[in-house]
Amino acid sequence: MKNSYRTHASNQLASLSPGTQVTLCGWIHKIRDLGTLAFIDIRDRWGLVQAVTDLNQNPQFKTQISSLKSEYVIQITGVIQLRTAGNINTQLETGKIEIQIQSLTCLNTALPPIFSLTDSNQNVEEALKLKYRYLDLRKPENQAKLLKRHQITTSIRNTLNGQGFIEIETPMLTKSTPEGARDYLVPSRVHPGEFYALPQSPQLFKQLLMMSGMERYYQIVRCFRDEDLRADRQPEFTQVDIESSFVQANDIRELANTLIQEVLQTLDMPYTPPQIMTYHDAITRYGSDKPDLRFELAFENLNACFSTTEFQIFKTILSKNGEIVGFRIPDGQAKLTRKILDEFKGIAWMHRTTATELQSPISKFLDAATQTALIETLKLEIGDTAIIVANENPQVAYSRLGQLRLAFAEKLQLIQNEMKWLWVVDFPLFEKDYETGALNAMHHPFTAPHPEDVSLLDTAPEKVRAQAYDIVLNGVEIGGGSIRIHTMDLQNKMFTCLGLKPEETQEKFGFFLEALQYGTPPHGGIALGLDRLVMMLTGASSIREVIAFPKTTSASCLLTNAPSPVTDEQLSHLGLKRKDA
Ligand code: AMO
Repeated sequence: MKNSYRTHASNQLASLSPGTQVTLCGWIHKIRDLGTLAFIDIRDRWGLVQAVTDLNQNPQFKTQISSLKSEYVIQITGVIQLRTAGNINTQLETGKIEIQIQSLTCLNTALPPIFSLTDSNQNVEEALKLKYRYLDLRKPENQAKLLKRHQITTSIRNTLNGQGFIEIETPMLTKSTPEGARDYLVPSRVHPGEFYALPQSPQLFKQLLMMSGMERYYQIVRCFRDEDLRADRQPEFTQVDIESSFVQANDIRELANTLIQEVLQTLDMPYTPPQIMTYHDAITRYGSDKPDLRFELAFENLNACFSTTEFQIFKTILSKNGEIVGFRIPDGQAKLTRKILDEFKGIAWMHRTTATELQSPISKFLDAATQTALIETLKLEIGDTAIIVANENPQVAYSRLGQLRLAFAEKLQLIQNEMKWLWVVDFPLFEKDYETGALNAMHHPFTAPHPEDVSLLDTAPEKVRAQAYDIVLNGVEIGGGSIRIHTMDLQNKMFTCLGLKPEETQEKFGFFLEALQYGTPPHGGIALGLDRLVMMLTGASSIREVIAFPKTTSASCLLTNAPSPVTDEQLSHLGLKRKDA
């Protein structure tokens, strides 16, 4: 770390011999002037070290030290000495030593920090921390998250470089890439009235690179999506974007497994290989396409149990091809009180009290045959409780029960502290709008159908499975990808299934359809959401914590005040006019 300002960083000191002279730079973390002895804790990115002087023996430092405050930037030269036994700080890497000050320079003063940088218990509003993000980032625990992010990207780059992938940059000012969100548009000055779109992902370019014969591409790349934000979504976020030629789905999954395994090894964290589950099983067993497998609470379909029911609500739902689904909460795993059950609205529950009896708010509708069927299907032991949801739209029934599965697991503290990786495979190619019946691409329109299902594109497109896969960690979607369509005819057919008219297809994707005809290799890829991966591996509760300068949930940057108004002159250069002007 030696340069013109310093000889060492704080983490290089502990192993030096007492008497070694060092020059250090950093911020004053804490300063204590005890009259005779003065202590200065100097913080740099690598840690903390205590400097000390006896003011009676070194009165020349008196005035200078009395003018110093927290967060001043200082340079200290001194010698390393061992602390006396009673003064050793076992919490600190440099806790056995201190620096006997020989000279001290104040490199810069500092305003008093807006919030404490030393007291992690101080409750500071997130908005204030974001406005003063550069101060918040001085906290070692926040710097540690960015450091881990760097270690993760370095590990990923090393693995990919080692396997013959090359990093290639693709344009930021481009045409829309459909990933299901709204585009951020950038007006063109040179072409008034025309706009670039910021990429929602480099999807089209990475496929074009396969057409260019690059074979193995990757990019750690910023993507932009104008969508509703949540704790795990930002309007600009980073993907580890990967594409490879001459691969099948399992090749890409294995590559991603290797990347994850290497990252975890770098971070000294345990790795267990992901389970693989079909989308159908994920939805019907766990009510989610990204199930959290740290706990079970798996679903059973209960339609058959209620086939003879006189309970009108269930009867109607079954007559409309709806679904009745439930899961069992085992007794003894947690004490489920009536109060807890009553907190959840819109569910039916039943509690097995005896060998033959179920206690439930709807028990008067449960004849003996239904009760026996429920006990058998849900494998209810005495003391167990069943949670049941019914809806005429099966999607709603499964997703509602999926939410309840999570809510009960949290409430009953069933979630283990472990990492459960999962591949969800065989996604449907299309997602059907329940109301309008329109088809949308479940992944994106460039995803290849399962070879066995191609013929269904004409007859029953909603039944076609995609060669798409998502990697999930503890219920969070970390990444997704697919094998791509590599012929123009199939790509055109896909656009037709999605309801795009030929002129529209030509206008949006003409260049891409043309490129597909010049010898496109079979190819596929994946994108990992880097921010989400880092969030999960650092135990952060929001992706904002692992992004240096994040945006709020209303997509603004509180530090720079972006977005902000522009002048009429700027607008006129762009050929734009304010609507109210
Ligand atoms: P997908 O849309 O699934 O795939 O995105 C890949 C991964 O990116 C992350 N992600 C986000 N992270 C933070 N904020 C957001 N707004 C956000 N949106 C997505 C998720 C997600 O799994 N082109 C395809 C990839 C491919 O087919 O190769 C794509 O972008 O972790």
